[in-house]
Amino acid sequence: MFTRIFSAALWGIESIPVEVETDVSPGLPSTRVVGLPDAAVKESLHRVSSSLKNCGFSLPLGKLTINLAPADLKKEGPIFDLPIALGILQASGQVGSSEESADCWAIGELALSGKIRGIKGILPFVAKAKEKKARKVILPKENALEAQIIPGVVTCPVEDLKEAVQAWTSAPQKPLAASPCFEPAKSALEKDFSEVKGQESVKRAIEIAVSGFHNLLLIGPPGGGKSMLAQRIPTIFPPLSLEEAIEVTNIHSAAGKIKPGEGLITARPFRCPHHSSTEAGIIGGGNPPRPGEASLAHHGVLFLDELPEFRRNALEALRQPLEEGKITLCRAKFSVQFPARFMLVAAMNPSPSGRAQDYQAGRCSFAQTQKYLNKVSGPLLDRIDLHIEVPKPDPKLLMEKKQAESSASIAQRIMEARAIQHRRFKDISLLLTNGKMGPKEIERFCTLSSSASRLLSQALEDLGLSARAYGKILKVSRTISDLAGKEKIEEEAILEAISYRTLDRQYWT
Ligand SMILES: Nc1ncnc2c1ncn2[C@@H]1O[C@H](COP(=O)(O)OP(=O)(O)OP(=O)(O)O)[C@@H](O)[C@H]1O
Ligand SMILES: [Mg+2]
Repeated sequence: MFTRIFSAALWGIESIPVEVETDVSPGLPSTRVVGLPDAAVKESLHRVSSSLKNCGFSLPLGKLTINLAPADLKKEGPIFDLPIALGILQASGQVGSSEESADCWAIGELALSGKIRGIKGILPFVAKAKEKKARKVILPKENALEAQIIPGVVTCPVEDLKEAVQAWTSAPQKPLAASPCFEPAKSALEKDFSEVKGQESVKRAIEIAVSGFHNLLLIGPPGGGKSMLAQRIPTIFPPLSLEEAIEVTNIHSAAGKIKPGEGLITARPFRCPHHSSTEAGIIGGGNPPRPGEASLAHHGVLFLDELPEFRRNALEALRQPLEEGKITLCRAKFSVQFPARFMLVAAMNPSPSGRAQDYQAGRCSFAQTQKYLNKVSGPLLDRIDLHIEVPKPDPKLLMEKKQAESSASIAQRIMEARAIQHRRFKDISLLLTNGKMGPKEIERFCTLSSSASRLLSQALEDLGLSARAYGKILKVSRTISDLAGKEKIEEEAILEAISYRTLDRQYWT
């Protein structure tokens, strides 16, 4: 007898429907899985046969063939255990077929005892099942909260094979009409900007960067507080919106980063990969392709501490996502796209020995300093909107008992600037910010006063800035004006924005 059950394979951050076909026919006992399965899928039969036995069922005698279609798509991992087990039960007549089991989707890994283990990629799986109008979706109980994020689908979270059979043959319940109540995560971090003494100019640059979602580079001597400041950035970020949270959860679900019992991600991502990370680790890769750190930081922060220590190819690979907010991986056999709209925060010393003038003091040579700085290419620097020097903190301020301004108070100003951007871009995209404006939006929303315009054209000529730097100055000055509650961009905003573009000239000469 032949049966067909729907499931899906993960491809990038999307699910691709897979039909699990099972056929039991008379003949010498043999079992075969076909349809480009990897080792974990081939081993599936061992898990399935033990769990069938331990749940009171049996593996049928005869020729058992399982086909995973489409046959040209690589199938990975143990996620097909459950649909294979259900297919065998139906094909061998141990479970009757009914109208209820038609258009039923199933996914899950089986333990030898028959228990069903959680898997990665449930969110894209349920989204695909909804798109294909599944009657019901049987999935592991561990992934129940993640599955609930998508309303309008009948999900049946099950703990073991017996429960799965029951869910499969019974009438579907009513689907949830809406996603569970969404409440953005409150900052539970113990870190706060009030602990950072002094460094007012750096805090101001960070405030601007977060307000407009601009990329930021911090340069300074060791122990100046660059890492300390960067780690406090999540405490001033506006909370995630529901739309952003679903996008973030989808990527983390596909990457297997959601813990059992966890549902929607409500905290903004803050990713800080180690500088030994590979290009694939940063932008994604593999076959089937997996998202990298840049995509895991989507709608959040990608913090690259000790920037020049990163592999050159890993840094250069960030040029496309920094510009376009997405990564397109092209390989001989496929091409895949990952969203990667993140805020880049990078930190570095101005020389290999730490301080800016060390070559003058003989601690390292000028050539060594230039070699170190040149690990960060000009085009990458050009894509960073704000470059700011983090000087050694003032010892007097360090010893003061008085606390600096709290993260909550900085976040309040940022929220107001974001509200202005929300109103400005509501007809284009609710997710757009000043930092991610394209040339059309710059033209439309960055109106300069006549004196600001004169100042900018003079500066462009004197400093020989690139066309990209011109756009970045306009975007940053738009954010500075939003923070000041001004509609038109004035001279002071342009001057401040230009000051964040001069550091590369000072060091990279
Ligand atoms: N402005 C400050 N206020 C209070 N403490 C500070 C300040 N700056 C630095 N510190 C202290 O110095 C420590 C070292 O700072 P941090 O690690 O951030 O320096 P860094 O600039 O990242 O150095 P490196 O270049 O070596 O990575 C912090 O953990 C903190 O205790
Ligand atoms: Mg550091």
